[in-house]
Amino acid sequence: MSSYEWRTHHPEGRRRVVVTKELPGRRWLDILTAADCRVDICTSPDVLPTGAILEAIGTACDAAIGQLTEPWGDDLFRALRKAGGSVYSNYAVGFNNVDVDAATRLGMPVGNTPGVLTDTTAEMAVTLTFAAARRIGEAERYLRAGHYKGWLPTLFLGELLIGKTVGIIGAGRIGATYARMMAEGHKMNVIYYDLYPNDELEDYIAAYSDFLASRGQAAVTCRRTDSVEELLQAADIVSIHTVLDDATRHLINAERLGLMKTNAVLVNTSRGPVIKEDDLVAHCRTHPDFRAGLDVFENEPELAEGLGDLDNVVIVPHIASATSWTRQGMATLAAGNVAGLLNGYPVWNRPDILPFLEDNPPQAAPSILNADVLGLPLADEH
Ligand code: DGY
Repeated sequence: MSSYEWRTHHPEGRRRVVVTKELPGRRWLDILTAADCRVDICTSPDVLPTGAILEAIGTACDAAIGQLTEPWGDDLFRALRKAGGSVYSNYAVGFNNVDVDAATRLGMPVGNTPGVLTDTTAEMAVTLTFAAARRIGEAERYLRAGHYKGWLPTLFLGELLIGKTVGIIGAGRIGATYARMMAEGHKMNVIYYDLYPNDELEDYIAAYSDFLASRGQAAVTCRRTDSVEELLQAADIVSIHTVLDDATRHLINAERLGLMKTNAVLVNTSRGPVIKEDDLVAHCRTHPDFRAGLDVFENEPELAEGLGDLDNVVIVPHIASATSWTRQGMATLAAGNVAGLLNGYPVWNRPDILPFLEDNPPQAAPSILNADVLGLPLADEH
């Protein structure tokens, strides 16, 4: 294989699975071993170029598990198919790096890993919200640099969030969970922009508001806005939880940043290109009270020029899903997608995916994005 370092698990396996990064935990390896797979794992932390993945697939490969940093398109799926491959799983819930249409044209099922990132990612969005609002990065750098000479009434004044308005762009699983954390934990009013109403979220916050009222406390509200613009103008905090597609690329640009409150906080744990990063840098330079908390970047791992120098921006390296539980869960689901289809199991089509993390998991592939269009058998039909 390529000059990158690889290790092989269960070399005697009858089938061969290529995994382009080391994954956490053991359970995923046990799942693949039980499916009689030899597993070739790239142990290099470097992002693998397509050529190295093609080389790893070689002439005999039954399945692959890839990363969100790799462009899985026609070339890789064609090579996987030619090598005898019959399933690919992304090690991520997001799949903007995968050309699912190209895979579908080649009859290749594509898996992803939903349902185990929800709380973990929402917690990171909360973390970034407070880190930005309370200037944690700046204050820590100041302290570490030895500038702290004693308590001061004016040192690092930030924003109090309780009772203010949080705006969610994309109120799916993660966005709605973040919204509930901010409403329940911090009594914030929620507004959200999404193509579809989230009745469950609205009902939940209405019930919570009734509970608060029963204790004589101020109500919290939740409503869907008619436009992104309306949300940006009204919110004190804006947190992005949308998918990346043609409609959301550069959704946040100079013009829309200009609509936001001058002391607003913008948080992004979805995908970097939703924000036009150069515009954000320019906006933060001219609006020192504006703050951003970013987990994702437009051209990862590169940062837009000047971003890393801004004191009003908190940045972390795409770690929103980085808890052991979640990352091991993602590995279990990715291995389950591959092993499930290699074993001839149907595809799971119920909303709760957590049974796959328990003992005696369902005999199904947990999450196959193009199952319907490929006409794969579904678990509920069995
Ligand atoms: C995903 O799974 O899409 C996340 O971005 C990984 O953190």
